[in-house]
Amino acid sequence: MSYEALTHLHLTTIGISVLLFIIRFGITIAGYPTAKWLNIVPHIINLALIVSGVMLAVTLGLKATEHPWLLSKLILLVAYIVLALLSMKPKFAKPARWGFAVAALLCVYAMANAAITKTVLFGLV
Ligand code: HEM
Repeated sequence: MSYEALTHLHLTTIGISVLLFIIRFGITIAGYPTAKWLNIVPHIINLALIVSGVMLAVTLGLKATEHPWLLSKLILLVAYIVLALLSMKPKFAKPARWGFAVAALLCVYAMANAAITKTVLFGLV
């Protein structure tokens, strides 16, 4: 797959991933049960997001050990997934769940910023 096609796939799956997360968070925070497909499709999209990111790195010959911004994306990705899962757990108080959700979206923002500026955490580190 070409660099352009991979970038398109990467950006499209990022958009869908964030959209699905916001929808799932909205449904669970409102106390409604989630439709079955909403528990399956996000995993497929997130897998495509990660695979396209890894393929981009391979295509560009980038190694996470040599590029701190890329390593930071991998760590932020884990944080995004964990925070998103926590935000949808009914056992936590609603203000905490909102906090987890906002922090998860901040991770996405930081990952996009890392890819565009090639810096770690908005250049703060
Ligand atoms: C929610 C998670 C992610 C977000 C928001 C994100 C965001 C972005 C954005 C906005 C770009 C385009 C940069 C540009 O065109 O200038 C990009 C490119 C890229 N991403 Fe991701 N990404 C995510 C996950 C990942 C993962 C998991 C990897 C893993 C290995 C990765 C590796 C890359 C690489 C190598 C590029 C190409 C950079 C370049 O063209 O110079 N991304 N990402």
